[in-house]
Formats: sequence, structure tokens, C-alpha cells
Amino acid sequence: MVKRIPALIALLLLISGCASRSTTLYEQLGGQAKINEIVENFVYEIEYNDTILPYFADSDIERFVAKFSEQLCVFSGGPCEYSGDTMEQVHGGMNITEAHFNLTVDLFINAMNKANVPHRLQNQLINRMTHTRAQMLYL
Ligand code: HEM
Repeated sequence: MVKRIPALIALLLLISGCASRSTTLYEQLGGQAKINEIVENFVYEIEYNDTILPYFADSDIERFVAKFSEQLCVFSGGPCEYSGDTMEQVHGGMNITEAHFNLTVDLFINAMNKANVPHRLQNQLINRMTHTRAQMLYL
């Protein structure tokens, strides 16, 4: 019995170590590579959507990709800082309706599906993203 105590302690340490190890959403998603894949898919979704594309008519898409990726990295708890404009500054004056906001979120979900992001993780990311809703509707 006494001989087994060190093994028991080792097992307990292993179990408690596993339980306390917390991974960020960023890590669970697959880091920057997966975020880049999602954003690339999202740009395609926008490009093929006649309702949302006109909003981006005068936009610098390279900048959008860079800033949006940064923001997703921050939202998911990744090691980034957001260096873009505030959501009010960017979307104010665009007259974004509830329907167009929801449609954009749908396009983002399509982008995540095409990147094979599990639904459990999709929901967490959408939850963090859509807190921006009040900062862009009807401004
Ligand atoms: C789900 C919520 C949304 C988030 C988190 C979001 C986030 C962002 C971010 C981070 C940028 C880049 C900011 C920068 O360049 O400094 C951006 C740009 C932009 N967003 Fe959104 N956005 C959202 C919804 C929408 C919706 C619903 C529309 C229109 C239907 C829209 C239209 C645009 C456009 C046109 C730009 C480019 C602006 C420019 O080139 O000056 N966004 N967005």
C-alpha cells in the first residue's frame, strides 16, 4: 500500500494539472492560421453577396482583412492588439439595418462552416463579436 502512495500522488497531480489547464478560444480555434482562413472565406462570402457587397464599394479590402483579423484575434483571447478604428467610427453613417447586420453575421457563419470550425466554437466567437451590434446599428 505504502509503495503505491507516490504513484497515487503523481496521478492526482496529473489530474489536477489537466483540470486547471485552460486554453483560450484562440488556441481552440487553431490560432492565427484558422483566423486567416475564416477571414479569407468571409471576404469571398461578401464578394458574392449583392446586398452586403455595395457597402464595401470604396473600401480598402487589404486593410479590412488586416484589422478584422486582429479584432477576431483579440475577441478570441489571442496575443494581438486591435489597431483599427472604433466600431462607431467605421460603421457610423452606413445606416446599417438589423437585417443587414444579421445577414453579415450569417455570411460570417458560412465562412466559419467552410473553415470547418466546430459549432461550439462558432457560438463562442459569434457571442463575442455581436456585442458590437449596438455600436453600429442606425448610427
Ligand atoms: C458583426 C459585426 C461586425 C464587426 C465585428 C465588424 C468589424 C469591422 C472591422 C474590425 C472593420 C475594420 C476597421 C478599420 O478599418 O479600422 C470593419 C470595416 C468595415 N465594416 Fe464591419 N463589422 C461588423 C459588421 C458590419 C456590417 C453589418 C456591415 C455592413 C453591412 C459592415 C461593413 C463594413 C465596411 C464597409 C467596412 C470597411 C470600412 C472602410 O473601408 O472604411 N460591417 N468592420
